Amino acid sequence: MQYSWNDIEQHIISCTHCPLSQTRRQPVMGRGNYHADIMLIAEAPGGQEDQQGMPFVGRSGEILDDLLRDSGLTREEIYITNILKCHPPGNRDPKEEEKEACFPYLKYETFLLKPRMIVCLGRVAAQRIISPDFKITRQHGSWIYRKNCALTATYHPSAILRDPSKYEDARQDFCEIAKKRAEYS
Ligand code: URA
Repeated sequence: MQYSWNDIEQHIISCTHCPLSQTRRQPVMGRGNYHADIMLIAEAPGGQEDQQGMPFVGRSGEILDDLLRDSGLTREEIYITNILKCHPPGNRDPKEEEKEACFPYLKYETFLLKPRMIVCLGRVAAQRIISPDFKITRQHGSWIYRKNCALTATYHPSAILRDPSKYEDARQDFCEIAKKRAEYS
């Protein structure tokens, strides 16, 4: 059976597959353009996202918007989601069992979207999606290819908030992403 976007959202809303379902205010489904060719995958909703039910609405969302603007992209033309759909208390790293419990939702999102490019934001997403030994400091901006999809990773906006000197590297990565996208279309 093939799920629709609405089916996935309903499953996420009623999900109790891990203990985060008891501590979350609300789950945060991916958002954006269902016909996007670029899918951004981050780690997990933060406190603001948990309150508002949307990805990247807090301070890290402002950084993400700056990166998109500086590379000529907009939120309206991309799709943004997280490995975990529920906020881990205290913004701790997601646990292995939480990532495993949530992974089917990301698979369904990817299956429906069929993105041509996947951009992992930060170490947690890069290690789950690209390679378990991915080193974000050394390997950000590098590309691998799977089937018809190009995958890369850059710094998570929260890492840039903690260390603003990372912004320029992330900006350059986003400019490459926009350039590659233009070459593809
Ligand atoms: N950090 C994330 O990884 N995802 C969000 O949606 C917000 C902050």
